Amino acid sequence: MCGIVGIVGNKPVAERLVDALKRLEYRGYDSAGVATINDGKLDRRRAEGKLFNLETKLAGDPLPGSIGIAHTRWATHGVPNETNAHPHFVEGVAVVHNGIIENFSEIKEELAAEGATFTTQTDTEVVAQLLAKYRREGLGRREAMHEMLRHVTGAYALAVIFQDDPSTIMAARSGPPLAIGFGDGEMFLGSDAIALSPFTNRIAYLHDGDWAVIGKQGAHIFDIDGNPVDRPVQISSASAYMIDKGNHRHFMEKEIYEQPEVISHALSHYVDFAEHTVRDMASDIDFANLHGLAISACGTAYLAGLVGKYWFERYARLPVEIDVASEFRYREMPLSKDQAALFISQSGETADTLASLRYCRDNGLKIGAVVNVKESTIARESDAVFPILAGPEIGVASTKAFTCQLAVLASLALAAGRARGTITEAEEKQLVKSLAEMPRIMSQVLNAVQPQIEALSRDLSKFKDVLYLGRGTSYPLALEGALKLKEISYIHAEGYAAGELKHGPIALIDENMPVIVIAPFDRFFEKTVSNMQEVAARGGKIIFITDGKGAAASKLETMATIVLPVVAEIISPMVYSIPIQLLAYHTAVFMGTDVDQPRNLAKSVTVE
Ligand code: AGP
Repeated sequence: MCGIVGIVGNKPVAERLVDALKRLEYRGYDSAGVATINDGKLDRRRAEGKLFNLETKLAGDPLPGSIGIAHTRWATHGVPNETNAHPHFVEGVAVVHNGIIENFSEIKEELAAEGATFTTQTDTEVVAQLLAKYRREGLGRREAMHEMLRHVTGAYALAVIFQDDPSTIMAARSGPPLAIGFGDGEMFLGSDAIALSPFTNRIAYLHDGDWAVIGKQGAHIFDIDGNPVDRPVQISSASAYMIDKGNHRHFMEKEIYEQPEVISHALSHYVDFAEHTVRDMASDIDFANLHGLAISACGTAYLAGLVGKYWFERYARLPVEIDVASEFRYREMPLSKDQAALFISQSGETADTLASLRYCRDNGLKIGAVVNVKESTIARESDAVFPILAGPEIGVASTKAFTCQLAVLASLALAAGRARGTITEAEEKQLVKSLAEMPRIMSQVLNAVQPQIEALSRDLSKFKDVLYLGRGTSYPLALEGALKLKEISYIHAEGYAAGELKHGPIALIDENMPVIVIAPFDRFFEKTVSNMQEVAARGGKIIFITDGKGAAASKLETMATIVLPVVAEIISPMVYSIPIQLLAYHTAVFMGTDVDQPRNLAKSVTVE
């Protein structure tokens, strides 16, 4: 993930900015840069690779100035080189950015048609170009910032300085976090409290849609409509050496809210947001000539694989054999060399998954690993590693790793489909465009459903047993929802294929068994509604998770209906993960369990 820092100071800032960037290195990056204003002039130093290279440049060519912004870049658009490194300059405007400007291609075309000259391959440059354009047209700095924010879409955190105003940093947040630090006669800005911890522990987090004008004496914060808003200043406990919870009560909550940002980074590794194509994944797995794929994992990672099965079979017409690793490793499944095996593991250390990998490797299969820890054992023993780039996942209950696993599996399934000629170029473009919209949609959903779900969790916490139902890719989601609830709230919960209800579980239905139905308005919707009618006819209480079309189509009375945006089928598993994660989280918080470290559980099960 990229890192942003800024200082409006009363002494030179360049070295302090680079020191602050060092505390964001854990996020991963491939280039860095810093810009300051000195004697009314913008200037910058940028370098590819590690911060040491930037420090070397600064030592040889110091950068004076007591106001500046700096950035560690994790490349999403454009190769990681000095030209594409931030800060980007256009006519006296300097910008650093974390996230993705989704509509950057259209804006770039518009501005180029008006004569703008672009010097980088990045999406970020359109922000600087727009601000320069509005300033040329006579808008003030605040108006230019507000106008730019109305023009761009996507998930982003931004910091901007204008050459003709050496006393102000402007910032904006829509997705990736951004924190304002309050000093004595100086003000700070950073991607998280860790970056700001040596300067101050008085932190105010911008909310989604906020933008701010930061001067030496304080900050003015506005909402997306330009209305002034107040964000509480809190005392952060972050130290330079701990991954902090930000402004969240638990790591799990923070990781749920990190999903739009980390999914942007995961996706950018696998898809080209400008061309809306899947990147060529030069790997040892030759999807074009495979006759079958074996998938194995444990827990939530297994459930991600179960969703992936639907995608590989539908988009790549590739038969998939999947099983939990603890069964897979002992089944002695007949395997052939024209199959490949894919292992999914957040930690990359799960014993059963590793044992299954070794079974397949001993049978001569090519091995792929979808992991969050690139230097893990499972990664080291695989032929092809597909990192999920979720960043450290501290909460034992897996959330952002799950949705990043899904994002990677969707990209792999489309890459396999293209290699096997089972999806057209137009289908690939449409599917990748849907994937590219996901971070923004997930960010919207997080803000939209949180209050309703927090209130609903109080009711849910009174029950002893809960049933989750879903069809298609919502079926593995029903299993994941049940796993999330049971593992952190200790309420017994089961997930079922909705079509299986009448083959047994319906015997359980009464007013003491809430049924959580996951059903976007897709091709299975009508059938799932008839399952809901069977539940309602027996006094069962329904919590309905659907979209606007589904809510309008179903006339059933429910305990609650959680309405999400209508989304493309391929991203519904990731988007519908948000309400099931939040429901489990808030129910557990209400019940007072140890959300981040539930009883009996370990983050990585390295024993059988
Ligand atoms: C998920 O919430 C659990 N923490 C657990 O099921 C986990 O997914 C499983 O143990 C697999 O771990 P891994 O992804 O590190 O292999």
